[in-house]
Order: sequence, then structure tokens, then C-alpha cells
Amino acid sequence: MLGDISFRNYKKNDIHGLALYPATMIAPVQNLILQELLKSENIESVFDPFFGSGTALYEALELCPDIELVGCDINPLAHLITKVKLQGITKSIKIDIEKLKNYLNNVEIDDFSFPNMNKWFRSDIIISLKKIRQSIILIKSKRNRLYFWSILSTFIRKYSNTRSSTYKLHVKDIECIQRMKNNLIDDFLTSVEQNISKFTISSSNLKLYKNDSLKQLAKFKKNSIDLSISSPPYGDNATTVPYGQFSSLALHWIDKKDLAFDGWELDNYSAIDRKSLGGFYKGPIENETGNLLLQPYLDDISLSKQKKVISFFKDYFLFLDELCRVTKKYIVLTLGNRTVDGVNINLTSITQEYLEHKNFRNIYECNREIPNKRIPKLTSKVNNNSVFSMSKEFVIIHRKTI
Ligand SMILES: C[S@@+](CC[C@H](N)C(=O)[O-])C[C@H]1O[C@@H](n2cnc3c(N)ncnc32)[C@H](O)[C@@H]1O
Repeated sequence: MLGDISFRNYKKNDIHGLALYPATMIAPVQNLILQELLKSENIESVFDPFFGSGTALYEALELCPDIELVGCDINPLAHLITKVKLQGITKSIKIDIEKLKNYLNNVEIDDFSFPNMNKWFRSDIIISLKKIRQSIILIKSKRNRLYFWSILSTFIRKYSNTRSSTYKLHVKDIECIQRMKNNLIDDFLTSVEQNISKFTISSSNLKLYKNDSLKQLAKFKKNSIDLSISSPPYGDNATTVPYGQFSSLALHWIDKKDLAFDGWELDNYSAIDRKSLGGFYKGPIENETGNLLLQPYLDDISLSKQKKVISFFKDYFLFLDELCRVTKKYIVLTLGNRTVDGVNINLTSITQEYLEHKNFRNIYECNREIPNKRIPKLTSKVNNNSVFSMSKEFVIIHRKTI
């Protein structure tokens, strides 16, 4: 159906390189899939229940400018980045960039702070960030402010004291912190100027929710979405990809008035990850099909590690139930199979069988190597044997039969 989907040389020189976000989908792959499905039949709405940086939704917009785009993510940083990509910037962006430069030269440093600011940022970096923060706040156009914040989010991380080798917050060696050159303001302004040419389209039919997908899906009507396309988390965030922890430093700096922010998200570094899929144990899985599919894996996993797997799959099966209810035609998922306690959990085949059971027939599957992974291939040791993390991702397409 799709041909070669490796896209080994894809470099995100497009709009998807606007801001750093973990574990993003490969845009050309999603584009190919959407091209096939959008041409085969009348698709009026596309939904991503875990939109992250908005890769799939943006590709759908590029192919079909009038299509209804619906998305959900629990992370305010994901919401910010995706909103900017899909709603774009205003015609006055160049004027606003000049204003920003002017403010940067004249602004006075305020007493803004947050817990552990000095642990995560060098004092001169704090001054630069405060200048940028105050200057952005002075910009009148909300669209353009959001654009500036989303560009800034990448530099907040780059100039922080946390290591770039992991998405978790992990402080760098002192020598490494001292060696950092402070080009923050120049780097930020260069990026702001360079990225404006990437904005050529925007959506006028967009609904982005900042919510737990399980709660949001419950509000959608049956068969209200033609095509659902997503890459869900592959396990609980804490032991796979800590999207919330990754985002927390940027979220501290960005003006809360410009974020879809409820107030609990920065209670601690794990707050978002704990509220994410499988973030905490809610009891056993009460779903016969789900239990049957998962049991062979659980049998080989030590009791102490089973709980995290059960927490994730309890939420995951509930999510699939809801996704099947609201989706009218196609479900497209990009998945990874993680290893727990030496056992490779085949999330792909579990999902395929579950969807088949819910009357969504599998019409296509393929896989691709994940190049340039930030998570090392050997992640941990179990009983003195190294454990391999995921190096492949799988794409599955299912079509509703009844
Ligand atoms: C694999 S990432 C999606 C990446 C996205 N496809 C992209 O290309 O950028 C998974 C996303 O699921 C979100 N997430 C996890 N649990 C969630 C939940 N219960 N409700 C909504 N979003 C959730 C995370 O915040 C993260 O952005």
C-alpha cells in the first residue's frame, strides 16, 4: 500500500522542527498514509487523541485545507506547539519581531521565580530568560506571542542545566554547566526570524483539547470522527518517555495566561506523567478480551513489575474502547513494543487483535527502524542481562466493518 516508509534522511527542516518534543512521529510517513486514505473515500474529520507536537494533524491540514481537525493531549506544552503549527502567525509578525528586539534592549529585570530555578538555570541564563519572557508578554497579538513561546521552549531546555541525553531532568556536571556559552538571546531571535517562512497554511476548522483523552473521548458522540490517527504512549510515561517532566522547565517560564493550564501541572515534576495514560494503578483490568491478550506476557513478568504493565493496559483498553466508539471509518496507530523484565510486550499485536475484536479489520501493517534514538538501545540491566529498548515502530491501519 505505502511502499518504502524508512525516510532515513528526513531531518525536520520543515515546520515540524519548530520546537523540540519527545517521540514525535515521522511526518512523511503520516503524510503517505493520509494521502492514501483521504483519496480513497470522503473523509471530513481527522482526530489525534495524543497529538504531541501535532505531526499527524498538520499533515492532514496540508493535504486537505478544509478538513475538520480534532485533537487532544494532556500536556500544555504539546497544546502550545500544536496550536502554533495549526493556527499560524499573523501578518504583523515582522513588526512584532522588531518590537520584541526593541523590548529586549530596554526591558528591566523583574523578580519572577519558581522552585529550584537556580538549580536548573545558571544566573546569567536566568537574566536572559527573564528579559525574553518580559518582552514576549508585552507583545499584543496572542498568536504571535504563542509562536515566540513555542520557539523559546526549545532554548529553555537547551540552556538549562539538564542533560540533553535524556528526556528526564538530570543535572549536568558542574564543568559542563560552566562551559556553556550564553548565546541565548541571539539564538532565540535567529530561530524566531528563520521559522516564520515555514508558516504557509493554517486551519480554520480546528478543535484542540488540553485534557486527559479518556475524559475527552467520553464527551464525543458515536461515529463522530471519520479517521483517527495517533501514536499513543507505549507504556506509562515514568518508565517510557516522561513527556511531562521533559516539558516542566519550559512550562515554568511561559506565561500561564498563554498556556492551556489548569494549575496542577507543575505541582511537581511528575504531575503530568502521573495523570497520563497508565500513570497510576487503578485496580485490575476488568475486560475479558484485554486480560486474555495480556496474560501470556504477565505470566513471565515478576509480580513487582506487573503492576505498572497492568496500570498502563487498563487505561489503554479503555482508550481503545472509546476510540472504536467514536471512529466511523479508519483507525491508524503508530506503536512501539517495549520490554519489561526481559519480556517484549507486543503492543502492536495486542492492539491489532483488540481492534479486530471491536469490528475494526486490519487492512495494513508495516514497520520502520527508528533512527537517532535518544533512548539508548541498551537501557537497563535485569538479572545482569542488558535489556534492549525499542528500535522499531509499527504502523497499523484498521477499517470499521459494521
Ligand atoms: C508518542 S507522543 C505523541 C507524539 C505525536 N504523535 C507527535 O508526532 O508529536 C504521546 C502523547 O500522549 C500524551 N498523553 C499521554 N497520556 C495522555 C492522556 N491520558 N491524555 C491525553 N494525552 C496523553 C503525551 O503528553 C504525549 O504528548
